Amino acid sequence: MAERRVAVVGGGAIGSGWAAHFLRMGLDVIAFDPAPGAEAAMRGAVGRAWPTLVELGLRSGASADRLRFAGSLAEAVADVAFVQESTPERIDGKVRVFAEMDAAADPSTILASSTSGLLMTDIQRDCRHPERTVVGHPFHPPYLIPLVEVVGGERTSADVVDAAAAFYAEQGKEVVRLRREVPAFIANRLQEAVWREMLHMLANGEANLEEIDRAMVHGPGLRWALAGPGLVYHLAGGAGGMAHCLDQFGPTLEEPWCRMKAPPLTDELRRELIEGADREAAGRPIADLERLRDDAIVQLLKQRRTL
Ligand SMILES: NC(=O)c1ccc[n+]([C@@H]2O[C@H](COP(=O)([O-])OP(=O)(O)OC[C@H]3O[C@@H](n4cnc5c(N)ncnc54)[C@H](O)[C@@H]3O)[C@@H](O)[C@H]2O)c1
Repeated sequence: MAERRVAVVGGGAIGSGWAAHFLRMGLDVIAFDPAPGAEAAMRGAVGRAWPTLVELGLRSGASADRLRFAGSLAEAVADVAFVQESTPERIDGKVRVFAEMDAAADPSTILASSTSGLLMTDIQRDCRHPERTVVGHPFHPPYLIPLVEVVGGERTSADVVDAAAAFYAEQGKEVVRLRREVPAFIANRLQEAVWREMLHMLANGEANLEEIDRAMVHGPGLRWALAGPGLVYHLAGGAGGMAHCLDQFGPTLEEPWCRMKAPPLTDELRRELIEGADREAAGRPIADLERLRDDAIVQLLKQRRTL
């Protein structure tokens, strides 16, 4: 089994980002995506990310030339130690792709899914070797954001969860292992809470998207890049720390902690989100915004000391 070779299955936003990251780490990458133009799209995405990867630091041997496209899913997974699946977030599709990969790959090959919140217990349903299947949930874009959340399904072996976590750590990732399978894992649960509140504020006319985004980036977002909400609230309590924070704010927060169910995503709310995002982009194409984002996050990663 080729230890320095990984397969990337699915070449959209996440698969291309994984390909870029693994290439930066000096691995050979074999990709598969049946969509017309997928190879050109992935090579384009890797090319656009490359200046960022250089800035972050390339491992020895790293080269965009080490990306190869396979003609079939079976060919892509046939001779690799690790597969990162990033196909669309639909359970029926994931079940099918995992069954196909499972039939074609050596039983020792680890099959990891980028799913944002589906359970591996469901995805591994039709696998003959479900013990080697695991979730490795990245954050967009995977070549830039360090986090990977790792969790197995009911039939995943503990050794495989260990091996996947060790593999990601070796590939420069910051691994958070989940104690048990929960939909949306940890980080997306946190993000979902923010989504829900955004929808409420927009639906009630309490704030528009620009105001919400400015409040986040000039406020909590700055602190959260350095310390999680736990430590942030500990500091917000002053000398009394978290205990004082809870004494002071706990009673007033009980009602907002309990009241919120998300409002329905109506056409009007959808339009407001899309029009607000367009206003903020102010005509700048996604590729330009990606460049600005990449430069800023690289600077942040280089200077950042977490608390
Ligand atoms: N976009 C994000 O922010 C994000 C973050 C973390 C995780 N994820 C997860 O990553 C996965 C992919 O998301 P995305 O945003 O890259 O989606 P995407 O729609 O950009 O890309 C999916 C790609 O999979 C390809 N595909 C479809 N069927 C396939 C098959 N049978 N074999 C190989 N390729 C196939 C499609 O052609 C497409 O290029 C999802 O599970 C998603 O939940 C997404």
